[in-house]
Amino acid sequence: MKICVIGTGYVGLVSGVCYSDKGNQVTCVDIDEVKVNHLKKGIVPIYEPGLKELMLKNVKEGRLHFTSQIREGMEGAELIIIAVGTPAKENGEADLRYIKAAARSIGENLTDYKVIVTKSTVPVGTGQIIKKMVSDTAGHSNFDIASNPEFLREGSAIQDTFQMERAILGIESDRAEKVLQKLHEPFQTKIVVTDVETAEMTKYAANAFLATKISFINEVANLCEATGANVEKVAEGMGYDQRIGKAFLQAGIGYGGSCFPKDTQALVKMGEKAGYRLKIVPAVEEVNKEQRLRFIEKLRYAFGNEGLKGKKVAVLGLAFKPNTDDMRAAPAVDLVPRLEQEGVDVVCYDPVATEKAKEVIKNLQAAATLDQAVKDADAILILTDWQEFKEMNVKLLKLEMKRPIIIDGRNLFDPIKLGKLGYYYASVGRPI
Ligand code: NAD
Ligand code: UGA
Repeated sequence: MKICVIGTGYVGLVSGVCYSDKGNQVTCVDIDEVKVNHLKKGIVPIYEPGLKELMLKNVKEGRLHFTSQIREGMEGAELIIIAVGTPAKENGEADLRYIKAAARSIGENLTDYKVIVTKSTVPVGTGQIIKKMVSDTAGHSNFDIASNPEFLREGSAIQDTFQMERAILGIESDRAEKVLQKLHEPFQTKIVVTDVETAEMTKYAANAFLATKISFINEVANLCEATGANVEKVAEGMGYDQRIGKAFLQAGIGYGGSCFPKDTQALVKMGEKAGYRLKIVPAVEEVNKEQRLRFIEKLRYAFGNEGLKGKKVAVLGLAFKPNTDDMRAAPAVDLVPRLEQEGVDVVCYDPVATEKAKEVIKNLQAAATLDQAVKDADAILILTDWQEFKEMNVKLLKLEMKRPIIIDGRNLFDPIKLGKLGYYYASVGRPI
């Protein structure tokens, strides 16, 4: 099949690469010419394990192309996939400006029948907006719209695509369904066929539910701290119940990233617009906001009367999760400036996200290695569960630090072991 993917971000690029690997002819289009030029030279703008190798393979084998000219991308394509960003507006609503711009450009270049499918996360009703914009611009309706929301996670995006657990096909015509069924055939996944509006809602419901699991376990963790129970065992005990499931019950510093924070907000706004006030999701957001700030209090508590001012704190982890350099809504973006405002000397280390972090955190002090970051530190604050941090030699590290204090937002270590080594160790929902 010949496919045109619009937007070469996390979703567009990964999808384009994976579809080409399944034998399709894929052209990825982006308005960002710098990005397109980089991609043409084999430079991948994001850190995503396995992506570069797979991209180069498919370019070499002639199935994957990049352009900034939508006309070129659409030429001969049976399927157009919209994968542009839908960030939050200041009021929390999904900003559809990139979607609308993409719809207009599609309309301007639509000469023959195509299926136009939206992979971006969009509020219910957006498919109909796209349909109207395309037909108004094209001056005809020789196309079908569809919705096929994306469920990949950053850091494991390739695997999540090749082994997708399901595909939602929101369709309005048999013709569009046939094209989307053909696209998904090689992935041998469960298919849910529905209308466009239901597909759009499914994506928000899934993300909000996952965010709810995280905030729920974080509340339980906070209660464990107040009562002496251990959240890890609580989560294990809960998770064996298949109705609950083990996944997404890892208590920590709260969720970040480009999707949960914006999608929960957008869902609340969608409710407001539709005249239904959501109650659970705003609580999920509130818990998540507070959860981050608890770590500043944990740090303050560790220093007691001395206070935070003048202390050197090594922040380990800038990206919102491991195996990505995505800094969108990462806890570090919130916490590093707050600590600096309190007079803390913050030195950060991240295996891959430092350069991107410098774009969003002013005057970021970054160390080139983990050892450099912790040298003479009064405390370590762990924000991301990178493998490198899980494997660090805490016994040796203690010799480098000024004081043996670790505040761990990801429960990477055994509190008893660290206690025996002489650390003051505070984690999440586990007895110190
Ligand atoms: P992104 O910001 O990484 O990339 C979007 C790309 O679209 C950019 O390269 C931008 O230049 C390009 N673009 C914008 N307008 C364009 C236009 N008119 N024509 C061509 N290109 C254009 O975004 P992302 O993280 O890939 O997310 C895309 C969508 O997918 C969002 O709706 C998001 O919620 C959803 N989603 C993201 C993930 C994820 O893990 N990042 C997972 C599932 C769903
Ligand atoms: C999430 C969803 O998992 C994807 O299915 C979805 O496609 C995507 O959002 C999206 O719509 O963009 P992603 O944000 O890449 O994917 O990463 P996750 O693995 O879901 O982690 C999100 C955040 O939750 C991270 O900050 C992570 O540290 C945190 N988290 C996750 C926890 O605190 N505890 C957990 O148990 C799991």
